[in-house]
Amino acid sequence: MPAPRFISPPATPPPSKGLSLATGGVSDLETRRLIGTTRFEPRNDVKNILITGGAGFIGGWVTRHLAVQYPEYNIVCFDKLDVVASLANINCLESLPNFHFVHGDLMDQAAIAKVLSEHDIDCVMHFAACSHVQNSFNDPLNFTVNNVIGTQLLLEAVRHHQGSRRVRRFIHVSTDEVYGDVMESACDETKQFMPTNPYSASKAAAEMYVWSYAKSFDIPALVVRSNNVYGPGQYPEKIIPRFCTLLMQQKQLTIQGTGMNIRRYLYGADAADGFDTLLHKGVIGEAYNIQSSQAVTNLEVAARTLELFGYSPRDFNRCLTQIPDRPFNDQDYWVDGSKLAALGWHQRVSFSEGLETSVKWYRENLDSWWPEASKAINVASTATPESQVCGVQSNGSGVEDAS
Ligand SMILES: NC(=O)c1ccc[n+]([C@@H]2O[C@H](COP(=O)([O-])OP(=O)(O)OC[C@H]3O[C@@H](n4cnc5c(N)ncnc54)[C@H](O)[C@@H]3O)[C@@H](O)[C@H]2O)c1
Repeated sequence: MPAPRFISPPATPPPSKGLSLATGGVSDLETRRLIGTTRFEPRNDVKNILITGGAGFIGGWVTRHLAVQYPEYNIVCFDKLDVVASLANINCLESLPNFHFVHGDLMDQAAIAKVLSEHDIDCVMHFAACSHVQNSFNDPLNFTVNNVIGTQLLLEAVRHHQGSRRVRRFIHVSTDEVYGDVMESACDETKQFMPTNPYSASKAAAEMYVWSYAKSFDIPALVVRSNNVYGPGQYPEKIIPRFCTLLMQQKQLTIQGTGMNIRRYLYGADAADGFDTLLHKGVIGEAYNIQSSQAVTNLEVAARTLELFGYSPRDFNRCLTQIPDRPFNDQDYWVDGSKLAALGWHQRVSFSEGLETSVKWYRENLDSWWPEASKAINVASTATPESQVCGVQSNGSGVEDAS
């Protein structure tokens, strides 16, 4: 790759096509439209749904989706409001009578017991976790504590909630990363776990606790292992919002290693539909992959984002800077989603469409969602010798994180 140089955006950004989001900031009403498309017959064994991590990215999509699409359910969002969270993800629901927000940490046993009992919770969707792979290399123990112990404390609270039979569905949000590298052919839900980084190890361990509590204490659990999700509302430490943030600051995009690692992308609305489908049709005791058919290398994500920012392919080399790879970087997470497809779910949003919507959204909303978002790209990741050598031309420290 050639030596990096400072980049400036083209004089006129390209016109955006076919986007439904309004310009000049997203109103509450428009945020409320950031939901999926499905609606099923409401379950008669579920009335009060607890969503942990609902102020985060995917939890936010699911919280909005369920609160808007199902006035029959009470949706209780429980979140500690970590730096990645944004109340803007759920502020649009404030006036809905079926939505409640509780600020709390899973590590606080009394707080979680209280929310279960005060809201008479009969269904749990557990999204809360530390989710940034790159951070897990820097602080692995924090991932174990938050993701594993946090999940066990939640399971304990559910176990003791009204004599253990009150919760009818416990939907545990795991990840495709528990399988480790999957390159040769798509793996189904029976594949052995081979996690390769502290994040995925913590998710695999958390899942083990869920299955063990399901057997030992009759917790009616099902598990979801999704491919990568992207879209509006994701904190800019992850690859797509990070690239948008860097380009908005006229900085180069960092590419770990060769940039040829593949990730499979699901737009937030499709993910919300997947979780909705599993809430209503998923079978207790089963695990489900959510598979994206859109496999894209990190380099291609960079190129497509640059295009959407108005750069031509001849600009690409000077807009990218290569940095060292992760300690280990899975090549692919190729999962087989036919089990979920058999329940009627399918991916609706193409990567091109979803990326274009996302880029437009970040250009308009990044600052109002995370006023200090620039810190995400400079602080969240470790400085590398290479990036420092880039000097003032480089963005200085961050690394992209595709998952
Ligand atoms: N983002 C992806 O592509 C992806 C893919 C597959 C699975 N997942 C899983 O989906 C879930 C959500 O991921 P995300 O990308 O939306 O994450 P995120 O980092 O955007 O949000 C996580 C949320 O959980 C909250 N949280 C974390 N620890 C908590 C605690 N101890 N108590 C209360 N709240 C806590 C945070 O404040 C934040 O709002 C995670 O379990 C992740 O492992 C994510």
